[in-house]
Amino acid sequence: MLSEIIQIFEDKSQFLQLLLIGDESETMVGKYIDRGALYVGFIDDRAVAVCMTTYESETVIEVKNLAVLPEWQRKGIGKQMLSHIEKINAGKTIILGMGETPSTLRFYRSCGYIFSHKIPNFFTDNYPSPIIEEGVQLKDMLYLTKQV
Ligand SMILES: CC(C)(COP(=O)(O)OP(=O)(O)OC[C@H]1O[C@@H](n2cnc3c(N)ncnc32)[C@H](O)[C@@H]1OP(=O)(O)O)[C@@H](O)C(=O)NCCC(=O)NCCS
Repeated sequence: MLSEIIQIFEDKSQFLQLLLIGDESETMVGKYIDRGALYVGFIDDRAVAVCMTTYESETVIEVKNLAVLPEWQRKGIGKQMLSHIEKINAGKTIILGMGETPSTLRFYRSCGYIFSHKIPNFFTDNYPSPIIEEGVQLKDMLYLTKQV
C-alpha cells in the first residue's frame, strides 16, 4: 500500500517516465501536463504511481493518465490512486478515455466505471505509430464514466 499521495505543482516533467507508462506518447502527455493536476503515490520515498486529471467543467473531471510501476502492479495501488481522486472530486462525474485493452477495462470495471461512448479511430488518427497492447492494435477510444 502507498505511504502517501502528494499533489505535485512544480516541475511535473520529473515524473515523465511514470506518465509514459500510462500514455506512451510524449507528445500526447505534453498536451495535458501543464493544465493537469498531477498526483504521485509514494512507497517510502519512491514514486511508484501517478495520476493526472484535468478540469473539463464544473462537474466533470477527466483522468488523463493513471500508471503504476510494473513491479508494483496488481497490489491495489491503481485502485488506491483512483479512490483518492474520487474523494477529492466527490459529487462530480469522472470520465476517462482508454484503448480497448482487456486488462485495463477489467481494472476500471472493478473500480465501478461503466461504458459511456466511443471515439472511432482515435488511436490510429492521433498517434504517430501503431500501439499494440496485449497483442491487439488500439484503434478506437472508449470513454468510461463514474459518478463519485
Ligand atoms: C491499469 C493499472 C493502473 C492498474 O493498477 P494496479 O495497481 O495494477 O491495479 P489494482 O491492483 O489496483 O487492481 C484492482 C483490480 O483491477 C483488476 N485488474 C487490475 N489489473 C488487472 C489485469 N492486468 N488483469 C485483470 N484484472 C486486472 C482486478 O480486479 C484487480 O483486483 P484483484 O487484483 O484483487 O483481482 C496498472 O496496471 C498500470 O499502470 N498499467 C499500465 C498503464 C495503463 O494501462 N494505464 C491505464 C490507462 S491510463
